[in-house]
Amino acid sequence: MKALVLSGGSGTRLRPITHTSPKQLVPVANKPVLFYVLEDIAQAGITDVGIIVGETACEIQEAVGDGSKFGLQVTYLPQEKPLGLAHAVLIARDYLGDDDFVMYLGDNFVLGGIAGLVDEFRADRPDAQILLTRVPDPTAFGIAELGEDGRVVRLEEKPALPKSDMAVIGVYLFTPVVHETVRAIKPSWRGELEITHAIQRLIDSQCDVRSTVIHGYWKDTGNVMDMLEVNRSVLEDIEPCTDGRIDAESEVIGRVRIEAGARVSNSRIVGPAVIGADTVISGSYIGPYTSISESCHIDDSEIEFSIVLRDSCLEGVRRVRGSLIGRNVTVSPATRKPSSNRLVLGDHSEVQISS
Ligand code: DAU
Repeated sequence: MKALVLSGGSGTRLRPITHTSPKQLVPVANKPVLFYVLEDIAQAGITDVGIIVGETACEIQEAVGDGSKFGLQVTYLPQEKPLGLAHAVLIARDYLGDDDFVMYLGDNFVLGGIAGLVDEFRADRPDAQILLTRVPDPTAFGIAELGEDGRVVRLEEKPALPKSDMAVIGVYLFTPVVHETVRAIKPSWRGELEITHAIQRLIDSQCDVRSTVIHGYWKDTGNVMDMLEVNRSVLEDIEPCTDGRIDAESEVIGRVRIEAGARVSNSRIVGPAVIGADTVISGSYIGPYTSISESCHIDDSEIEFSIVLRDSCLEGVRRVRGSLIGRNVTVSPATRKPSSNRLVLGDHSEVQISS
C-alpha cells in the first residue's frame, strides 16, 4: 500500500502567510502540519509516499527531504496547477501503479492518526473508504448524504444548500478502481476535477464505497481560526520540558516546553505553551495555547492563544490574542505622540486594532 499526500494548492485563506510559505508548513506546536500527516502515514505501516507539489515545491522538498527522517521513502510529484484533488490522483497514476493507497490532504489534521483505519481497510478491502464527521458549516466541505442503511448515497462538493452536515474529511482509501473514475469525470463549476465526483461515480456503478464516521478530533487547517484551534488541541498534550534557561524571577506554570537555547527572564508563562529554540522572552506574559517558534524576541509584551513564526519580534505590545504572526515580523508601539497606529502590512494582511 502507498500514500499520496497533497501538498500543492495556493492556500488563499491563510494569506498573507501563504504568500511566502506553503500552508502545509505552517507550524502547530512548532511542527509543520505536514509533518503530522507524514508521521501518521509512517505509523500506519506505509513507507512509500508520493507528495503532490505545486508552486511551493522547493520549500516542501527542503523541509521533508527524502523522507528518511520519518522512516519514509518520498517521491515528489509536480502538479503544474491546482486543478483538483482528482487531478492529483490522475497525475500520480504511474507512481501509484496497481497498489491500494491512502490519499491524505497535507493541510488536514486527524488527532490519533490513521493506523486503525488503514488496518480496517487492509482487512476488508472495499473499493473505497471515506471518513465523515459532523460539521457546523457544511457549505465549506464535501458533504455526504447517507441512506437508511448508513451507506453514502450522494456526495456534493461545497453545496450551497447542504442536505446533511456530514463532511468528507481529507483522508481517503482507494483500490486502483478509482483510476477509471478519475479519468471519466469532467471539471466542476470551479474548474477542478473533484474527488467527490470520482467517488460518486464509484457509488453509481455499485462499487463498495464504505464510510466511517469519526467522532474524534479533525480539522482542515485552511483558515487562521482552525489553525489556532489545532494548535490549542496539540498543546493540550505536549510533554513539558525545559531545555532552555529560566531565571529566578520567572514563573512557569502548567504544560510548557522550552526548547534548547531559549532564554526566559523576568516573565510569566502559563501553559500549555511552547517556546522555540533560541527564542528570548523577557519581561513578558505568555498565556495558554501559544506557540512561539525559534529565534523570536518577546520583550515587555503579553500574548496568548496565538502562533508566532520564527525570527519575529514583539516589543512593548499588549495584549495580543487569537493571532497568527508570520516570519520576521516586528510588532512594537508607536513612538511619537499623538498615539497613532503605524502599519506596514503585506498584501492580504488582516489587522484588528483595539480603539
Ligand atoms: O478538508 C476536507 C475537504 O478537502 C473536503 O471536505 C472537500 O471535499 C475537498 O474538496 C477538500 O476541500 P478544500 O477546498 O479544503 O481543498 P483544498 O483546495 O484546501 O485542498 C486540500 C489540500 O490539497 C491542500 O493541502 C492543497 C492540496 N491540493 C489541492 C488542490 C485543489 C493539491 O495538492 N492540488 C490541488 O489541485
